[in-house]
Amino acid sequence: MQTQPAYIGSGTTRPIWNQDADQPATRSLDRDIATEACIVGAGIAGLTTAYLLARAGKDVVVLDDGTIAGGETGRTSGHLASHIDDGYTEVERVRGEDSARLAYESHAAAIARIEQIVEDEGIDCDFTRLDAWLFAAPGQSPEVLDKEFDASYRAGMKIHKADSVPIPEFNVGRGLRMALQGQFHALKYMAGLAAAVERHGGRIFTRTLASQIKGGEPAHIQTQAGPVVRAGAVVVATNSPVNDMVTMHTKLAPYRTYVVGLAVPAGYVHPALYWDTDEPYHYARLQDVTLAGVRQTVLIVGGEDHKTGQAQDMPARCRRLEAWTRERWPRCGEVVFQWSGQVLETLDGLAYIGRNPGDESNVFIATGDSGMGLTHGTVAGMLLSDLVREQPNPWVELYDPSRKPVRAIRDYISENANVARQFVDYVTGGDVSSEEEIARGQGAILRRGASKVAVYRDQDGELHELGAVCPHAGCIVQWNPDEKTWDCPCHGSRFTVTGQQVNGPSYKGLSGWQEERAQDEK
Ligand code: FES
Repeated sequence: MQTQPAYIGSGTTRPIWNQDADQPATRSLDRDIATEACIVGAGIAGLTTAYLLARAGKDVVVLDDGTIAGGETGRTSGHLASHIDDGYTEVERVRGEDSARLAYESHAAAIARIEQIVEDEGIDCDFTRLDAWLFAAPGQSPEVLDKEFDASYRAGMKIHKADSVPIPEFNVGRGLRMALQGQFHALKYMAGLAAAVERHGGRIFTRTLASQIKGGEPAHIQTQAGPVVRAGAVVVATNSPVNDMVTMHTKLAPYRTYVVGLAVPAGYVHPALYWDTDEPYHYARLQDVTLAGVRQTVLIVGGEDHKTGQAQDMPARCRRLEAWTRERWPRCGEVVFQWSGQVLETLDGLAYIGRNPGDESNVFIATGDSGMGLTHGTVAGMLLSDLVREQPNPWVELYDPSRKPVRAIRDYISENANVARQFVDYVTGGDVSSEEEIARGQGAILRRGASKVAVYRDQDGELHELGAVCPHAGCIVQWNPDEKTWDCPCHGSRFTVTGQQVNGPSYKGLSGWQEERAQDEK
């Protein structure tokens, strides 16, 4: 008997949002349909695009291979920031002052748009405006804050220097206070947004995999189950674009990021967003949630990022996050949540949103969340709904997916060299030399002659073998012991233990080993 791990979207760890938010009831597509705009992906970028198009009177269809917000939107930590993660010092260096100003305006507009949607649609999702605090990591000169203050101020942020940060039991030194940031309960917002899309006439189909996406008049979206969608325009908002083999992925780098949630006494932590300047940086905020029937305040803290498929030590990373938190807020209680998510970094800290390079003019993409998926996703909704309707938008050039920022060339070379190095896995041995070494509930890569196989032993002791070659561009996948997935170290595709893809860019699953061997022998 096969025992499948219990997946929540793209992994088996349980984000705080799943504690007290219900998934909206949706259906799968069971017949051919036509529409003005087809959105592939029901995360925040896809649903915001659908919502704004539907509100503008367009007929809209949304397809998702999983559930509403079942991808990386459901694994967010829920910060709504107009301060770019990489910092305005870096955005200015790579893209210049005018672009930094536009970046700020777009993210501030995204928070305002979320606030407006919450109000217009009556979404009960704990949306709050609050301050954010940025402080230097231990050992870093506070001058880093001075530079960031100047660049952020030039970008237009409402930012203030402060001699201290409201963390009374630990001196983090001086800080920068940024007004008018925000937070919300991610899944409650997404459930409300999905309901609003349908209220305004949009149609949402979940558990419907788009297996082929072609632009043209009309665009043609083939689903794995058979039905076809014909559309005037198609928006691919699948976190990592599944309609692109190479072009975009040389400019995207996938990272895993980790989050712990610690119970804290009500009123103990000053409500704010907290970020430091460490590399990778830490991020913290509060969220109230019902645990065992009791309302509990939880301090959510994230960080400890690494390249996807290139580390297998979530417990150690979560322990470091816990220690960092207890040092600053010593009265924290037990750890009540731990989860991980995936971030797609770009070369300049800004997403790629717009026409898909080299494709038909009615194919659009939104990708490269850069750790700011909620605001970038909302910016995508505003920008793409304008592009689909052929309306002008001030951010077209800023987010143009075809851009190649020359001042980020070093990062471009370094990330692609990292990808190239992963191909050495073809000539190395396996993680283990035989199946006997694989514990129940765990997986490992084994060498079988010239090939490598991905082997998972389920809780009943039964083995499940898959080809270890990622269908996207041929790298060897790696076992992720915490999310119980096979993760590709090259561009971040991820697969369940049965080989089903849960993250693009691959839109195909891992091949069954037997099937792969038969092909090799031909
Ligand atoms: Fe590109 Fe796996 S995601 S090779």
